[in-house]
Amino acid sequence: MKNFKGCTAVITGGAAGIGFAVARRLGEEGANVVIADIEADALDRAATTLDNAGIPVEAVVTDVAQRDQIVALADAATSRFGDIHFLHNNAGVTTAGLAEELTDAQWDWVMGVNLNSVIWGCREFLPRMKAHGQPAHIVNTASMAGMSGGPLMAPYFASKFAVVGLSEGLWHEAKVNQSNVGVSVLCPAFVRTGIARSDRNQPDGMGGWILQGSDQASRYGEFLTAGVDGGIEPAEVAGKVLEAVIDERLWILTHPESGQSVLNRAEAIAGSGIPAEVRRPNN
Ligand SMILES: NC(=O)c1ccc[n+]([C@@H]2O[C@H](COP(=O)([O-])OP(=O)(O)OC[C@H]3O[C@@H](n4cnc5c(N)ncnc54)[C@H](O)[C@@H]3O)[C@@H](O)[C@H]2O)c1
Repeated sequence: MKNFKGCTAVITGGAAGIGFAVARRLGEEGANVVIADIEADALDRAATTLDNAGIPVEAVVTDVAQRDQIVALADAATSRFGDIHFLHNNAGVTTAGLAEELTDAQWDWVMGVNLNSVIWGCREFLPRMKAHGQPAHIVNTASMAGMSGGPLMAPYFASKFAVVGLSEGLWHEAKVNQSNVGVSVLCPAFVRTGIARSDRNQPDGMGGWILQGSDQASRYGEFLTAGVDGGIEPAEVAGKVLEAVIDERLWILTHPESGQSVLNRAEAIAGSGIPAEVRRPNN
């Protein structure tokens, strides 16, 4: 896609954070915008803000972890604006806790919102975008946590690595078939958003995003919250997303140090086999 004027863009997790920033930026560039989110009040406020800015907007309350709701979102977007040109699979949540101590429900929640939704979004929207044949693009939000692992967020790492793999696969399929639909994967480091309050959208009874009764998880939660609060602004990320789409780039890194961290990991894999971050002297 070389410009967004008159195109229709669907953004999940569009009520807040990175999703809302991308929606606003696309709207400012002349797109019709469909924002989807599980948080109805926040979605309402986001739609009002976009509407007040003169952006044509449709808000669709959606739980992206439910496949039928992804289909309903695609139908709602089509019935309001016609052909869809841009999809940002962006909604995401996290937990903090040891892999074996987190419950099955917590694992399922993260994998459902962060990964299944992206699989379903691509599989539902891609045929529609191919059918109209106009320039189109899918952006999937992964994370730098999809590029290298660490402790206490195993479901998040697993889901984000998978989103990276899925996006890379789709990118190759698009090139092989000279598709009209480009693919990018967004891998942010810390961005100042509500991600460290993910439990505001958790199904009832799951007990929060930080594993209860674990000091280690609690400390990690504090570290993560501080990192997010000190992160870059979502609007900066939105600018990088639009640039990458126009340039037809697969990878979207948001922080200057991210490239080196990818290199460090690759070097560790090819060299010692020990992740660079936990290597000790004499290892
Ligand atoms: N903020 C960061 O530091 C950071 C870093 C790397 C990756 N990311 C990723 O960026 C994406 C956006 O997150 P953010 O940082 O803007 O956080 P955020 O919490 O501000 O926004 C996430 C949005 O997703 C929505 N959401 C949650 N569960 C949902 C569901 N089941 N169905 C529909 N919507 C749902 C939330 O209501 C919220 O509006 C996520 O995929 C996250 O993993 C964030």
